[in-house]
Amino acid sequence: MNMNKQHEIHCHYFSQEDLLGGGCLDMKLAMEAAKNAMLDHRGGEVLFPEKIVQIFNDETQERINCLPATFLNRKVCGVKWVSVFPPNPVVHGIQNLSAVVILSEIEHGFPIAIMEGTLCSNMRVGAMGGLAARHLARQDSEAIGFIGSGEQAKMHLIAMKTAVPSLKRCCVGAKTEEEEAQFVQEMSAILPEMEIAGAGTDLQRAVDGADVIVTATSAQAPLLKADWVKPGAFYSHVGGWEDEYAVAKACSKIVCDDWETVKHRTQTLSRMYKDGELTDSDVHGNLVDIVAGEKPGRERDDEIIYFNAVGLAFTDIGIALAMYDRALEAGMGQDLKIQSTMIFEHEQLRDWVRI
Ligand SMILES: NC(=O)c1ccc[n+]([C@@H]2O[C@H](COP(=O)([O-])OP(=O)(O)OC[C@H]3O[C@@H](n4cnc5c(N)ncnc54)[C@H](O)[C@@H]3O)[C@@H](O)[C@H]2O)c1
Repeated sequence: MNMNKQHEIHCHYFSQEDLLGGGCLDMKLAMEAAKNAMLDHRGGEVLFPEKIVQIFNDETQERINCLPATFLNRKVCGVKWVSVFPPNPVVHGIQNLSAVVILSEIEHGFPIAIMEGTLCSNMRVGAMGGLAARHLARQDSEAIGFIGSGEQAKMHLIAMKTAVPSLKRCCVGAKTEEEEAQFVQEMSAILPEMEIAGAGTDLQRAVDGADVIVTATSAQAPLLKADWVKPGAFYSHVGGWEDEYAVAKACSKIVCDDWETVKHRTQTLSRMYKDGELTDSDVHGNLVDIVAGEKPGRERDDEIIYFNAVGLAFTDIGIALAMYDRALEAGMGQDLKIQSTMIFEHEQLRDWVRI
């Protein structure tokens, strides 16, 4: 056995439970990390190459995406390896999205962490919605309405309550009453101070009188109607096509995580753009413009504001890094030995090699 440890490589492994137990389900942490990631990106500190997409079924869009990003200022490079299998919940009763994140330092290029990534990925979606709400929702908002009661909706409720603490009531509409009941049960346990109820699959009822509206569905249909949106509402659009065009048209501001990315995708705003119903000048700006103080957020109590994020993977890596620091400090995770020494320094190599 080679006693020289110079070539040992170790990293840390964090399961989802390690991250949760280490206090990482903290939306303030995620929102701060997402904000800093956006400002770092604007400041030229982030390398953000194109994602790699591998689609295994064109019809169902089952896919695995590889999304890298590097924070030069923090000397960390990361990648999110995320699977999206839309038939999973329907056909197998298991989750659609699953992810792992790998972080490496860029002084020697060695890995520092391998971590469960679904938590970070879902928290990023919520954190971006929460950051937007902090700047774009009325800060006296009391009622929040959801269309869709799945994983993203649940995380969004935590984010919205964190960003707008005045929220008191939540109503949720989904495809089935069972899903609504599950949302109510799970979220009431986490947010006992809120009054949370199901809408009995009546989507209009779900958003009736809501100051904050969230659509987070797997539907591809115009579920949310403009008539249901009250003056002064903030709307966070999470899924694909889930609102009629008239909703965006009724808004005085449309804000995206990145309009140039949004306009080439397939959700409502992208469809409107492709149909000539929305132009660049209709979009107020990107969230970072508002976070950086370069463009105004909400200016009047009665304006309806639309937010749509499709995901900037460098924010996922920024959040993963914050979670890594938090969980490590809490003593969570396990040391994972990647190698004891270099390949040809192993004394047993002659026994192991196959020639
Ligand atoms: N914007 C982003 O960055 C981002 C990131 C991840 C996921 N997403 C998208 O968010 C959406 C929700 O994801 P999820 O993981 O929460 O999904 P999920 O499968 O857990 O939940 C989907 C929800 O949609 C509801 N729904 C479907 N059809 C409906 C209908 N006709 N009427 C009412 N409700 C209906 C279901 O009842 C369910 O509550 C998906 O479209 C997903 O692709 C967006």
